[in-house]
Amino acid sequence: MRSDLVQTHIERNRETKCLSEAYTEHRDRIMQLIASTATDLADDTGRKCSSIVLLGGGNCLDVDLPAVAELFEVIHLVDLDESALDSVVNAHPDHANQLRIHSPADIAEPLLSLVNGDFLPEEDNREHCVRVLQALSSENGIADVPEADVVVSLCVLSQMIGSLNALIGEDHPTFVNALKALRVGHLRRMLSLLRPGGVAIFVSDIVSSDTAEQLMTATTEQMPELVKTLVAEKNFFSGTNPSVILAELNVLSRLATGPDTVHTIDPWKWNMGERVYAVYAFRIQKKMPVGDEPATDVAND
Ligand SMILES: C[S@@+](CC[C@H](N)C(=O)[O-])C[C@H]1O[C@@H](n2cnc3c(N)ncnc32)[C@H](O)[C@@H]1O
Repeated sequence: MRSDLVQTHIERNRETKCLSEAYTEHRDRIMQLIASTATDLADDTGRKCSSIVLLGGGNCLDVDLPAVAELFEVIHLVDLDESALDSVVNAHPDHANQLRIHSPADIAEPLLSLVNGDFLPEEDNREHCVRVLQALSSENGIADVPEADVVVSLCVLSQMIGSLNALIGEDHPTFVNALKALRVGHLRRMLSLLRPGGVAIFVSDIVSSDTAEQLMTATTEQMPELVKTLVAEKNFFSGTNPSVILAELNVLSRLATGPDTVHTIDPWKWNMGERVYAVYAFRIQKKMPVGDEPATDVAND
């Protein structure tokens, strides 16, 4: 992986390490989603679910790790930032035997190993560029993580798009196609990490108070309407429009291993100290093999 691209994320993790208290509402919302999903998936015996994968675990401020450890036997933490995950393990000695660290790992592999030249659309590079986009959109990216009951993407999409931006910039002729490849690859990788019937919780930041000051004072109740307005005004981070992602999930639902149902979760606020983000989520349940469960179309509510 390229140290310049990786370093940006490691530095951000160092800067945000002290924000545990500010993250409270964000963490509570994510934990509600994880806990209700674990309850839905638990069998009648009330046994714990076997495993959960946290993509972009970082400092793990956006989850309550001891509470997650109550719900799942094994917790897989995946991130490029090995030192952040090591600190998490050291801070939770009582749960160390349940934690599995996959780091340094590029969730969007090969993204963090690419160079600008890989994306040139010129005749003599076209075939290579197409292969790079295929690799980004492929479902085979995250090695050594076994199939899990639940996979959570912790605001990683915007970070990966940030890396793409650092690599080639938004004005590059291949940027839009590379972004689409990266995003669909992320959704496919979440699904491929799930056991049949498992649930992916895709959480994404969509806009910050840097461009939408209203977020500073908005109440939780005002968030759905506010985010709808901001999206209509095209005031959101590139590649994070929920309607577009929902349409991509709909396409993936045609696959035998695609989503069975997708529920949209109302947006909430993520307080990052002097900046506030709007965050939304999708709860995506993977299909059971044909014959086990009737297949249904993606439902959005
Ligand atoms: C928004 S942070 C998530 C917050 C984190 N869960 C916490 O509480 O500190 C996104 C995380 O994704 C990681 N990340 C970004 N791009 C990545 C990539 N391509 N592969 C693996 N991890 C990545 C960053 O290192 C960071 O820890």
